[in-house]
Amino acid sequence: MPYEPVLLARINKPDSGRLEGYRADGGYATVERVLKEKKPADVIAQVKDSGLRGRGGAGFPCGLKWTFLPKDHPGPIYLCVNADESEPCTYNNRILMEKDPHQVLEGIMLACYAIKSQKAFFYVRYEYGDAFRSLESAVNEMYAAGLLGKNILGSGFDLDIVLHRGAGAYICGEETGLIESLEGKRAWPRIKPPFPAIEGAFRKPTIVNNVETLACVTQIMTRGIDWFKSLGVPPDPKNPRDAGSYGPKLYTIAGHVEKPCCVELPMGVTVRDLVEKHGGGVWKGRKAKSVNPGGLSMGYVRCDAKLKDSDLTEYDIPLDFNGPGKVGCLGLGTAAVTVIDDQTSMIDVLHNTCQFFAHESCGQCTPCREGTGWMLKITDRLRRGLGRKEDLDILIDVGDRIGIMPGTTICGLADGAGWPVKTAIRKFRDEFEAAIKSGAKSKYAKSLAVAAH
Ligand SMILES: Cc1cc2nc3c(=O)[nH]c(=O)nc-3n(C[C@H](O)[C@H](O)[C@H](O)COP(=O)(O)O)c2cc1C
Ligand code: SF4
Repeated sequence: MPYEPVLLARINKPDSGRLEGYRADGGYATVERVLKEKKPADVIAQVKDSGLRGRGGAGFPCGLKWTFLPKDHPGPIYLCVNADESEPCTYNNRILMEKDPHQVLEGIMLACYAIKSQKAFFYVRYEYGDAFRSLESAVNEMYAAGLLGKNILGSGFDLDIVLHRGAGAYICGEETGLIESLEGKRAWPRIKPPFPAIEGAFRKPTIVNNVETLACVTQIMTRGIDWFKSLGVPPDPKNPRDAGSYGPKLYTIAGHVEKPCCVELPMGVTVRDLVEKHGGGVWKGRKAKSVNPGGLSMGYVRCDAKLKDSDLTEYDIPLDFNGPGKVGCLGLGTAAVTVIDDQTSMIDVLHNTCQFFAHESCGQCTPCREGTGWMLKITDRLRRGLGRKEDLDILIDVGDRIGIMPGTTICGLADGAGWPVKTAIRKFRDEFEAAIKSGAKSKYAKSLAVAAH
């Protein structure tokens, strides 16, 4: 039986963003019931037991994060909704905000009730004008209907939602960069600890959650733990650190495909199925050479590389929290799948990737600021046909040394800059070496030279 979407179930309905339509489909009945029947701790327990992991990139268990708030804190406690969504080719949050804002807003109400917060800041990527307007009108409808403000639905629970337009940079999505930006400063990530749950927005305990995570909270509190756990992938017994990948997931498919789209499927669909069945296949009848499995910062898979002891290739990896890591990528990330066809140069792809990270580094940490710049300069040299043999190992070395995981930077942007470099060179070394040997310009660099001429 084909999977019936839940998170995206309403997006094609006329006026899907209006309160009246949402209520007609049963919307806000869950929060009404929860406010009457459940204690905040019950909501935390249900979300924790569902196994929901954050959809913003790191996959941290949502309910567990909520328990990190200080016990019996007098307040205020804040929720920051992360809608900065700047990872290239990622647009699942945008669809939810534009087409079904009330589903997300109900998730915010439930989360705030659970963590005893009376104020949520909704930080929306600057470029998302339509999403912002859709949220603005939905929030106004909620105030008019008594779903926000004081003593909501006679429950004694108070909540305000403040919409905030982002500052237009990728780093504003890193949770402490977001908090700094919300406070009116440059989005420079903070050194952790203290983590936001202890000291976040305006130095108060703060939970940061992604838009899709909060939409899942609405569905978990409506449909229950068993429903959520019936979808997706249980923990890998060979990996004691894997907490499983339960629930539905929004995947975006972009790049060289016939039908770029956002689809909802149970966690664990393979890259091949996503591209071939849902994305209409690789465009122009070509083959897939490489894929970014979860946003640019997760690295690259090589579609014709055989998996060990198997006839399958890296194109067949499952997109759950564990899958991409098995083929040397960083993780599931934002589940944004970008396809690169077999007529595209990996040198051009990598140069383009390095441009993005060098531009978006906030510059606070020397290894990230300088390292992303070096990687850009070296890949520029490679695409111009001026690469040296040692360049490939230098790139891998820089990629290995910059980042929060090797412990040399404040935030994960640098890890995200290193992973595509390391994976592209390790997996497509033959192509890079041949280009260095021949001294030929890459395809794109050649076209630039013609244009300049
Ligand atoms: C450079 C960088 C950019 C990020 N951008 C986003 C983003 O746009 N949206 C998001 O939800 N998380 C983003 N994150 C992850 C957040 O720091 C944080 O983990 C997430 O918002 C937590 O929400 P979740 O637990 O619901 O996933 C980014 C992280 C880094 C290092
Ligand atoms: S790792 Fe890069 S983006 Fe993150 S704080 Fe350091 S310089 Fe800024």
